[in-house]
Amino acid sequence: MNAPHALSDYAHLVQPDRVHSAIYTDPAIFEQEMTRIFHRAWLCVGHEAELPNPGDFRATTLGRQPVIMVRGEDGQVRVFMNRCRHRGMTVCETETGNARFFTCWYHGWVYRNTGPLQDVPGPAGYGADFHKEDFGLTLVPRQASYRGFVFASLAPTGSTLAEHLGPAAKYLDIYMDASPVGDIDVTAGVHRTRYRGNWKFVGMDGYHPHYTHRSVLDAWRRRSGGNMADTHHGDPFADESGNLTRDLGNGHVLLDFLPGRMGNLDRYLATLRKLPQGEDYIQAMHTAYGEQRGNELLAWAGDPHVGIYPNLQLIGVQIRLVRPISVDETEVLMFPGLLKGVPASVNSLRLRQHESFYGPSGAGSPDDAELFERNQEGLQASVEPWLYLARGLNRERVEPDGTRVGLVGDETTQRGQLRGWAKLMAEA
Ligand code: FES
Repeated sequence: MNAPHALSDYAHLVQPDRVHSAIYTDPAIFEQEMTRIFHRAWLCVGHEAELPNPGDFRATTLGRQPVIMVRGEDGQVRVFMNRCRHRGMTVCETETGNARFFTCWYHGWVYRNTGPLQDVPGPAGYGADFHKEDFGLTLVPRQASYRGFVFASLAPTGSTLAEHLGPAAKYLDIYMDASPVGDIDVTAGVHRTRYRGNWKFVGMDGYHPHYTHRSVLDAWRRRSGGNMADTHHGDPFADESGNLTRDLGNGHVLLDFLPGRMGNLDRYLATLRKLPQGEDYIQAMHTAYGEQRGNELLAWAGDPHVGIYPNLQLIGVQIRLVRPISVDETEVLMFPGLLKGVPASVNSLRLRQHESFYGPSGAGSPDDAELFERNQEGLQASVEPWLYLARGLNRERVEPDGTRVGLVGDETTQRGQLRGWAKLMAEA
């Protein structure tokens, strides 16, 4: 099959058990993804906790469009288009920082961090019909937050954020409620990966860790006591682990480690109790949420392993944002989220666990970046273009709420993400 060119054909690229490799390699399809997904759907811009102080900002892109997420001097977090209202130059030239004003380099227009145009050099050159209040920074058409996660859409109309998240919202709760006060600190820094592969390769594949990351998992297993292996029950990715994979709809997917972790809760609590003031954390969680829910949240360990389509993933302690650059280049930002209201030892453990797998010195994410690049290279061989994603299809079940459930190593997640992709690409 040759790559199609009509939009109506895109849905046919995703079949129940397979996908056409053109969606990873065809620049024309990537252009349509920018238009129909990244310039229209709800995207996560970041978390409000990245910007604790008035004036804190981070500049990024939604698809190809530059934006600034900034906490204004009034304390409110807004997402503006990073575009001067005069002739369109970007007004924020650094990725992160703190500013009361954004000053355009071209002719010097000055904007407050709450948006209004503050100053215009040479105002006498304009007529009486020029009013500064008409030329403030432009807000994104739609902005909404859930538990501090800031989402934006470049389309003026469409589904609400609540409709978009659906049942996946409760996994954002699980990330936040690992803190007894339900709040996090996202100022520890960021790991950044840029790889030569398509953006849809990133994350939520429960089938590859037992092979690609086998040496890491073996090392964790050998090093018991205060190590991540204690939070799991045997091999967390084995079919018999009790762990599940879920398609939550709209492309959102989950690797559900709760069954295995609840089966191993006593060992995990023992690990926490070895930490200085670790018992205080357990008691604070029981006080805040009750013993049963508190134990569930402790078992989750703030690690929902959820993918919020298309660009947010919460894995381990990290908030992961996926940013497509081109059909064969992707940037991934990984922000470790630390918990508020817990002993310092708990956050230290979380950071060490994060670093052991992710980031430039981690044992896991460099392997992932390498395999994504080889995957992109292999897809250049297009004589037989279909890719098979059928693992677990024969044992997948549909829950009463419409979510699909498989075993943790099943390709339920890949199929779910691709259904979300096809739905967004096909929408009028
Ligand atoms: Fe910004 Fe002219 S383009 S001041």
